[in-house]
Amino acid sequence: MATRSKQAIPASADVPRHIAIIMDGNGRWAKRRLMPRVAGHRKGVEALRGVIRACAERGVSHLTVFAFSSENWRRPQEEVSLLMELFMRALENEVARLHENDIRFRVIGDLSGFSERIQSLVSDAEALTRNNARLTFTVAANYGGRWDIVQTVKKLMASSVAPEAVSEAALAQQLSMADLPEPDLFIRTGGEQRISNFLLWQLAYTELHFTNVLWPDFDAVALDAAIASYRTRERRFGRTSEQVSAAS
Ligand code: IPE
Ligand code: IPE
Ligand code: MG
Repeated sequence: MATRSKQAIPASADVPRHIAIIMDGNGRWAKRRLMPRVAGHRKGVEALRGVIRACAERGVSHLTVFAFSSENWRRPQEEVSLLMELFMRALENEVARLHENDIRFRVIGDLSGFSERIQSLVSDAEALTRNNARLTFTVAANYGGRWDIVQTVKKLMASSVAPEAVSEAALAQQLSMADLPEPDLFIRTGGEQRISNFLLWQLAYTELHFTNVLWPDFDAVALDAAIASYRTRERRFGRTSEQVSAAS
């Protein structure tokens, strides 16, 4: 017999509730300026500051960004070290401002790959901001969509769940960000059109937006262009266009 999806159809809104971004193109931004790649990453942190503010101002409830993938360890050792340094500095310098702005900060990914200093900065920042409600800002670090699914399966197996009890809902409950709605809008900057092992499960029905803008140049105007594109989409979740019109 055919399988019927039991997944609820989320309500559509003009402003996406949850935006997920692959911040790509820092290296090329720097290369064009004959600067070292790390200069692009530094500029990328500034761009992120602006995008967090713009999302909060536009009423986006959740912003999730891909900062370091489980595959990025393959980069030259020097670049990896500089990225870790930058992550640490950002944690030291930016969290107070996030907290002042009522922003909840979280990290998803395998934190055991990071230094103890980073791990403790992350847990302090999460504890400090846990009750903030304006925007949930999630950083995916040492994250991979496949890792997320595997850690979920491990949790299910450890709880000795019966095979009959394994369902989409049961699995989704154990994923990173299980408490957040799935992303409405996905943005990838830098021109590549791929997911690069970001949120594999959670992006199943997300609207995708690819832009050639390099991440350090991504600003409120570019964000508004992505949101405008999102607004033109008809989210059907398997239904026909006529059904969607009748339901709204
Ligand atoms: C994205 O920019 C940042 C990280 C992956 C950490 P890149 O560093 O991938 O920039 P390009 O793709 O080389 O331009
Ligand atoms: C994806 O960008 C990961 C982050 C932005 C953190 P990459 O630049 O690493 O992706 P690929 O390797 O080109 O697919
Ligand atoms: Mg890249």
